[in-house]
Amino acid sequence: MRKSLLQRVLHGESLRPPPVWLMRQAGRYLPEYRKVRDRAGSFLDLCLNPELAAEVTLQPIDRFGFDAAIVFADILLVPMALGQRLEFREGEGPWLEPLTQADDLAAMRQRLEDGPAWQALAPVAETVGRVRTALAPETALIGFCGSPWTVATYMVQGASQPDQAQARRMAYEQPEWFAQLIDLLVDCSAGYLARQIAAGADTVQLFDTWAGVLPAAEFERWVIAPTRRIVETLKAKHPDVPVIGFPRGAGAGYVRYARETGVDAVGADYTLAPDWVRDELQARLPVQGLLDPVLLAAGGPELDRSVDGILEVLGDGPLVFNLGHGILPQTPLAHVERLLARVRGS
Ligand code: CP3
Repeated sequence: MRKSLLQRVLHGESLRPPPVWLMRQAGRYLPEYRKVRDRAGSFLDLCLNPELAAEVTLQPIDRFGFDAAIVFADILLVPMALGQRLEFREGEGPWLEPLTQADDLAAMRQRLEDGPAWQALAPVAETVGRVRTALAPETALIGFCGSPWTVATYMVQGASQPDQAQARRMAYEQPEWFAQLIDLLVDCSAGYLARQIAAGADTVQLFDTWAGVLPAAEFERWVIAPTRRIVETLKAKHPDVPVIGFPRGAGAGYVRYARETGVDAVGADYTLAPDWVRDELQARLPVQGLLDPVLLAAGGPELDRSVDGILEVLGDGPLVFNLGHGILPQTPLAHVERLLARVRGS
């Protein structure tokens, strides 16, 4: 099969113009998404309804012609599949019934070994299959999950907190319990991604939204080592499927992440300087990202300048044009169109 532009870059080619997609590109900034979301009932119902989830996955491709689709799901489906209660409360974001060290991780392990966890995640694989069938062969299809550290922080706290402090505290106070939780998430994430690949995903991405809140030693233990294990497991079965890692906020830690985890490409967050990214990361592997999602929402000449700057500094090497975090719900559609025209030089 001919490789998509995204896959060519992730295998090391430099393309001008670069392929482009946006993190969280299926979502509330699209009026057609809001319609389907209302039809589905809750956000969770939408994630678990393969017909509607496939429809919203394709919406940004149909509207903007992005070079990649990303399956519509959420990183918190993994804790749900492991048996944790999950709710998305209107206007509040996600909520999980917080785990404590008194909680029996063996019951969660059992759900993996016996199969209920995989059954709970099966709708996502079905969505992947439906999207692959509907999608043009030159458009890539990205599967994803959260990284163990980020997912563990939500499992322990129930929701986001400033700098995920309670999860960090749990990791310090109960390191053995926390390591068991991370091990469980490594196994579940690797199996989940392998199932998405088997269903038709040709690339996968690990979202590590909270990689940036850890000191160096804990970053090694809870981010780098578990990520490496997931990548090794996937590579043993699917050596040609590229893995993108997105350790948001990792700062100087990006260099070790790029060197030591085995990922094929890194997602650069919007705080990093393009020339630093070129010299320290792109010199070693393909990079994706950088543009500030707030700037895309703001628009105007500053947006044009930032897009041009990223292309000028990174455009001669392997680059996937993207945001440095997810697109915001208040982003005007016209700004996305303007961005695409600028990147594609039309
Ligand atoms: O990129 C895509 O278009 C695919 C879908 C996708 C969603 N979530 C859909 C979603 C992806 C890749 C995610 C990843 C995700 N989910 C992350 C990592 C990336 C990041 O943004 O940091 C995290 C931390 C989550 C957990 C999560 N889900 C939060 C914190 C929230 C609330 C914040 C918000 O944007 O409302 C969600 C809800 C969520 N996930 C929505 C969507 C489209 C909005 C829900 C709605 O439609 O009401």
